[in-house]
Amino acid sequence: MPDSLKVDIVTTRNGKQDVVTYDYQTRFDKERPMALDVLLQAQATAIPDLAFRYGCRARNCGVCTIDVNGKPRIACRARVRDGDRIEPMATLPVLADLVVRRDGIARQMKGRLASAQRTNDLNVEAPEDYHALTACIECYACLDGCPMHARNADAPAGDAASAPGDGYRWGNPFSLLKLQMLRLDPCVTDAGKAAALDHAVDLGLDACVGCPGCKCGVGIDLKGKVVKELLNAAGDRLPPDEAAADN
Ligand code: SF4
Ligand code: SF4
Ligand code: FES
Repeated sequence: MPDSLKVDIVTTRNGKQDVVTYDYQTRFDKERPMALDVLLQAQATAIPDLAFRYGCRARNCGVCTIDVNGKPRIACRARVRDGDRIEPMATLPVLADLVVRRDGIARQMKGRLASAQRTNDLNVEAPEDYHALTACIECYACLDGCPMHARNADAPAGDAASAPGDGYRWGNPFSLLKLQMLRLDPCVTDAGKAAALDHAVDLGLDACVGCPGCKCGVGIDLKGKVVKELLNAAGDRLPPDEAAADN
């Protein structure tokens, strides 16, 4: 059994990308470390200024997401092997090393749904699907492969409407999940539910028609419990050709 394994860590400093091959020293027999273990040891022993995020270390906060071999993984729960490559999420702008800019996603919802559109009745039960959607940890792994989110990058250079600063123009599976939660929330008024659907259409729900994507990092059925529900509700509000397609 090797007592070390080599992992490539992609770093970014002042916009310049580099690859550091780090020799992880295993701590016990047959250890298969998590990606976060590798990053922590690399920072402690070889790259003191290595930038990455983590919080709970228990798959609860979602902030540690990175790409392993080109696929989004939750670093505190993703085991790595000799020869693996760790890099920042490809779907969001890199700030430094493994740290990406997350605020553009959260800002999409800002000010778009009036808080008055919520009742205060605590005696109502939310449907089962609502509880299933509360499992979202905001890791943003679902952005990977989403053609709707990709529209932000495809926008003409300098198009402020698709930049993260004021919130991305186009949506993603996470934003659709949040909007579908509002539609299922028994404390949201009918006007609030209608506004949530309007927002989903405005964020580019038409991109979902016929799209095979939507993979959740923690196993939420995004296609069945979010996308399909929103597409059904939007009906003929989507462009005619796409609305007719089978999803
Ligand atoms: S179904 Fe919609 S939200 Fe999901 S990946 Fe496709 S375009 Fe994105
Ligand atoms: S829907 Fe799943 S993949 Fe997307 S942010 Fe939530 S937990 Fe992460
Ligand atoms: S550190 Fe919180 S999910 Fe990984």
